[in-house]
Parts: sequence; structure tokens; C-alpha cells
Amino acid sequence: MTDLIDRDRVQSSGDFDVSDGYVNLLGAENRSNGFGQNIMQSAFYPLIYRPWRALGTRVLLGQSVASERALARELLDLKPGDTVLDVACGPGNFTEWYGGVVGPEGLAVGLDLSTTMLGQAVAATRHDNVAYLRGDALDLPFADGTFDSASCFLALFLMPDPMQAVHELMRVIRPGGHVAIMAPTTGPIGLFLQRPGVFEAVSGVKFVGRKQLRDALTGNDLTITKTRHVGQVTYIGAVK
Ligand SMILES: C[S@@+](CC[C@H](N)C(=O)[O-])C[C@H]1O[C@@H](n2cnc3c(N)ncnc32)[C@H](O)[C@@H]1O
Repeated sequence: MTDLIDRDRVQSSGDFDVSDGYVNLLGAENRSNGFGQNIMQSAFYPLIYRPWRALGTRVLLGQSVASERALARELLDLKPGDTVLDVACGPGNFTEWYGGVVGPEGLAVGLDLSTTMLGQAVAATRHDNVAYLRGDALDLPFADGTFDSASCFLALFLMPDPMQAVHELMRVIRPGGHVAIMAPTTGPIGLFLQRPGVFEAVSGVKFVGRKQLRDALTGNDLTITKTRHVGQVTYIGAVK
């Protein structure tokens, strides 16, 4: 996986720090932008994240882990041999599964800011073709067109500039490659949270609008392949 990292972008010519089982491109730097991200970087939350996520998805969205994975596979058009990037991978709940789908000829890379989430991801890794990296979704350390596909699930709302992350996602896939995004979007609570205010200032949490997401993709010459709104959440896929 280190061969995929663009040395010019990360301004490094030496060895990468892999002492924790993932490539750490941020050293000891803390890039938290509020309590939302602080929770992701805590010691406790990553420990319970997978069952918590599965329960939340079942209760709030009526989806099982299997049905959500099937949707991710469809949106990303994942095939054996593909190289896929999972941006804001958390404890690797999608990355590890991608590794199984793309098989030994493929590669699944998970990127996240949180050392504790990545610690869980590394501990759960069973596939040799799965690798993790600590980096920032707003400034991906890869050259244009590096991946066959890239996803970002349930994370844009934690980022100070979610649309920059969408642009980065689009940038690193090849022409003909696919992106998949899952994000809490509109609805009464979402509309309220979209407005900058005290909540956003304290939490760092920022919701994106459905149209904003669609426009970002189509405005960069991607073609939307599928959109599914489930409650407060939008799943959207597009091809470059
Ligand atoms: C709610 S978890 C989502 C994990 C997984 N993608 C999922 O769908 O279950 C959000 C993740 O986004 C990560 N994250 C937030 N901002 C980030 C950024 N700027 N760059 C990389 N990861 C980020 C957090 O550290 C956290 O692990």
C-alpha cells in the first residue's frame, strides 16, 4: 500500500511510521474539530463501535449489516482485483469486508484520523490485502486516479469541510471508477444542523444537503448511478 502514497503530497522521502500496524502520516498531531471527532478519537467508543453501528443502522434505517454491504458493493461496482479506498474507515467495518470482495489480487485501503479507531481496525484484520493509514480525508495522500473506487460512509458530518472531502474522493478515483457516499442529509433535524450555529461550533458536526451532494458529484462530471434516501440518511453512488 505504501507504493500508492504520493511522496510529493506527503513531502516525505524516508520510511513511513508503521509501528502501530498502520501507516501514520500525521505523527502525534491531533486534528479534532470538536466533540464529535473527540468521541471518535476516544479510547472507549471504538471498542463498541461495530455493534453500536449495526444496532443503530438496524433500528434507525431498518437495514442489516449485510444489506448495507450489498448496497456498498453495488454502488462501488466492486470486483475481484479492484483497488478500493475506504475514507474515514473507523474500525474497518467496511474496509475489511471490501478486502474479502476484491480478493487476493485486489487491495482495500482504510484511511482515518483516529488512532483508536485504526487500532481496532488493525486488530480485526484477517486479510493480507487490507491496509490502514492515518491521514486526513480533506487532503488525501494519493495521486489523482489511484483507485478503482472510493467510499466515505457516515463521516462527512464530522468534517470541517465535507465538500472538500467529496472532491478528494472524486479526485483519487480513475476515469470509469466509482464513488459511494453515505451521509446524514436533510429532514427537519438535518436542515437545522446544516445552519452554522452554536451546535456546529461546539460539536464540529455539519450536515450536508442532498442537492449539495448531488451537485458536487455531477458538477465534477460524474454520473450518478443510484441514490437511496433512508430516513435521515442518503446513500449515493456515481461513476467518473
Ligand atoms: C462514524 S465513523 C464511520 C466509520 C465507518 N465509515 C462506518 O460507516 O461505520 C466516522 C469516522 O470518520 C473519521 N473521520 C472524521 N473526520 C475525518 C477526517 N477529516 N479524515 C479522516 N477520517 C475522519 C472518524 O475518526 C471516525 O472514525
